[in-house]
Amino acid sequence: MSSIEIQPLASYPELVEICAAWNLNEFGASEDCGLEELTSALRGIIEKDSGELALIAHYDNTPAGFALLIDCDLESHSHLKPWLASLVVARAFRGKGIGRALVAAVELAAAKRGDERLFLYSSTPDYYRPLGWQFFEDLKKEDRRFEIMSKTL
Ligand SMILES: CC(C)(COP(=O)(O)OP(=O)(O)OC[C@H]1O[C@@H](n2cnc3c(N)ncnc32)[C@H](O)[C@@H]1OP(=O)(O)O)[C@@H](O)C(=O)NCCC(=O)NCCS
Repeated sequence: MSSIEIQPLASYPELVEICAAWNLNEFGASEDCGLEELTSALRGIIEKDSGELALIAHYDNTPAGFALLIDCDLESHSHLKPWLASLVVARAFRGKGIGRALVAAVELAAAKRGDERLFLYSSTPDYYRPLGWQFFEDLKKEDRRFEIMSKTL
């Protein structure tokens, strides 16, 4: 039977660059944030003891996706905290429940440390609604429309 395992990315530092590349492929680079900057931001998360967390999913022992629990994902909304961010499942592994497992693992990690509410922003909010996430606020960013969502833990 196939298995999905979610673990701290800190246990797999050699996979940080792959996660940064997945992130870049899905969400694109910006002028001041390319592969090198993303890799170093992820290294910062896994090396510091700040409470922020990066999780990696393995599907049958193959790296398949990752997600973050971070303090701030939107400078404009730094009053909201914490955030589920950078949820990405590698294309070959989609539709197997890995995304849902990563969302659940981030929620659990946040609840365990005492967070009562979690936020995210997404251009595909319909993915999160069946997972118990609710509309919080509309967001326009770089001429694109997003939804800020929240979930009570
Ligand atoms: C969105 C994403 C994380 C889903 O990962 P996944 O492992 O394929 O998702 P799961 O297998 O857990 O869930 C699949 C379910 O979600 C649904 N789904 C997938 N993408 C969806 C979307 N964009 N909108 C609505 N529903 C979606 C599928 O139809 C499927 O539904 P079903 O179980 O009723 O058949 C993955 O497609 C991805 O990495 N996309 C690119 C980055 C991204 O959009 N990240 C999230 C938004 S910020």
